[in-house]
Amino acid sequence: MKHSLLGRDLLALADFSDTELLDILESAAELKSRQKRQKPQSLLTGRSLAMIFEKPSTRTRVGFEVAMTQLGGHAVYLSPRDTQLGRGETTADTARVLSRMCDGIMARVYDHQTLIDLAAAADVPVINGLSDRLHPVQALADLLTVREHFGSWRGLKLAYLGDSNNVSNSLLEVINRMGMDFALGTPTPQAVDASLLAAAQATAARTSTRLLITADPLEAARDADILYTDVWTSMGQAVDAAYLESLQPFQINAELLAVARPGAKVMHCLPMHRGEEISAEVADGPRSVVFDQAENRLHTHKAVLIATMAGVVLSRAQRLAA
Ligand code: CP
Ligand code: NVA
Repeated sequence: MKHSLLGRDLLALADFSDTELLDILESAAELKSRQKRQKPQSLLTGRSLAMIFEKPSTRTRVGFEVAMTQLGGHAVYLSPRDTQLGRGETTADTARVLSRMCDGIMARVYDHQTLIDLAAAADVPVINGLSDRLHPVQALADLLTVREHFGSWRGLKLAYLGDSNNVSNSLLEVINRMGMDFALGTPTPQAVDASLLAAAQATAARTSTRLLITADPLEAARDADILYTDVWTSMGQAVDAAYLESLQPFQINAELLAVARPGAKVMHCLPMHRGEEISAEVADGPRSVVFDQAENRLHTHKAVLIATMAGVVLSRAQRLAA
């Protein structure tokens, strides 16, 4: 039987039920294991993924392109310079054309509304590869990384420190759902999206977990199992010198790590700027798991692609047959 994710879009993690999220993560772990055992998984033979990039990328582009290749399919990279989108062809017309030729669309856009417009006009799954609002495929890789390092999610505390942005928004969508406590330490707590916050508060009540939004970095980091940060100026944002100054106390460094749990891990979606949101000592130190996160983009992308484009999720039970 085909999985419920067949034909579905992934614009936000809220689009997937708890069971669907767990299925994707289980499938990603299994795909990773098979890749390590050099068991090729030709689950998307002959399928094509269109990849629209309005902004630069290393991990997202390579992660999706290599995922399609390893699954026996093909990815087509489209920058605004290369397509008629850059010359005024509408988003809807682009979605209709790509739907006639490709089996899925992945898009990295400035305005989240562009993804909504693409998905409304497309007949194939549309996957969010980062928008100004959310970065769901990053958070999936992060969840897989947390479970690999801690064995499970329940009972852990993850603290995000710094600019409240697309990455922290996707964490806000999912951390409490997985049974973790979430602390968001940012100089402007009032800027956190009200609808995402309300949803996370409801989730925290449902899952009996804690949610803290604070302007105090030490309060956020205290007793955390994981400290997470991202760049202080996201792509497309104007640089604001006064705001950057207010972010200084949120840098993940030895001092902040000292108030976290012994053995706490440090995460960053990358690219990172040593000396800004993270000290070089911590970025390159033994607590850092940032490159595990980056690798897990590949495995989680694969899980999303086979679920949405072919209705397939893998589980450990299937390992015996693999
Ligand atoms: N973390 C992330 O999405 O990286 P890229 O911008 O390189 O794709
Ligand atoms: N918040 C960052 C994430 C980059 C992967 C940005 O949008 O630039």
